[in-house]
Amino acid sequence: MLSDVIDLLADPVDGSRLTPGEDRWQTVVSDTGHTYEVARQGYVTLCGGAGLRYSGDDASMIDARETFLSGGHFAPFVEAVTHHVEEALDEAHVAEEAHPAIVEIGAGTGYYLSHALDTIQNSRGVGIDVSTAAAKRLANAHPRIGAVVADAWSTLPLREGSVDAIMVVFAPRNAAEFARILKPAGQVVVLTPEVGHLVELREPLGILDVEEGKVDRMIKQASGHLKVVGEPETVEFEMNLDQASISAQIGMSPSARHIHPQVLQERIAQLPSTMTVTARAVVTRLGQAH
Ligand SMILES: C[S@@+](CC[C@H](N)C(=O)[O-])C[C@H]1O[C@@H](n2cnc3c(N)ncnc32)[C@H](O)[C@@H]1O
Repeated sequence: MLSDVIDLLADPVDGSRLTPGEDRWQTVVSDTGHTYEVARQGYVTLCGGAGLRYSGDDASMIDARETFLSGGHFAPFVEAVTHHVEEALDEAHVAEEAHPAIVEIGAGTGYYLSHALDTIQNSRGVGIDVSTAAAKRLANAHPRIGAVVADAWSTLPLREGSVDAIMVVFAPRNAAEFARILKPAGQVVVLTPEVGHLVELREPLGILDVEEGKVDRMIKQASGHLKVVGEPETVEFEMNLDQASISAQIGMSPSARHIHPQVLQERIAQLPSTMTVTARAVVTRLGQAH
């Protein structure tokens, strides 16, 4: 709930502290007098005067993501991300009693953040997504998640030096802002798809491949703000997917926007009834560069 993380949140306009309004969490108010409404579903939109430039995943993509992830097909990814967040907190000597603060950027349905919060005692999380469809899910994904609609490419509505760990799973990375909101020993755990991810589906469905060198580019873009900690870990496994799961996997990805739904369904119907499909991604940890 927002009450678990209010001390981490900041006014998107000027970075000042936010506290609950006098109306029992129907609004939050900044020290400088800006008021932000808390939606009926429990999330708050924290964006500056210019508003949001992106809409993020729509409701049908979020539904498809929920369907696919609830099948457990990405379990090794969620286990790996949580494991790296635990290691990051251990390395920073964050005590459970300190209520570790974890932020997920582009948190979607909250699948990854909820798993981390379930595993790490006393932790609390801020789930940030630019999509209101995602925020509605996030607000109910876990009792210790505070759900916030915000744009990862703008100033993040989080207090400077307040966060123990940031998770980014197949979502946008803003290294300068991550460095600003992280504590000095805080770390970012990033899961990035690698060449070979879903390779068996690419040709039959006509979907784009992952670009070569994605992880190296991400590390290069972060330099000056964040630097790699330890060795990146490749996580690769096989999934047995039926046509409904394949349809959900494609429906939750940007491919869904590039191919007409009818054409996509016709291509999926041509596939065997179940297929072995490779999942492949890299976990990278980044800490403060300075
Ligand atoms: C590929 S999905 C990953 C979702 C989640 N991390 C997962 O793996 O289940 C990318 C997510 O990032 C969100 N997103 C895209 N652009 C964003 C932005 N500029 N700021 C915040 N979130 C954004 C989308 O709405 C979507 O929920």
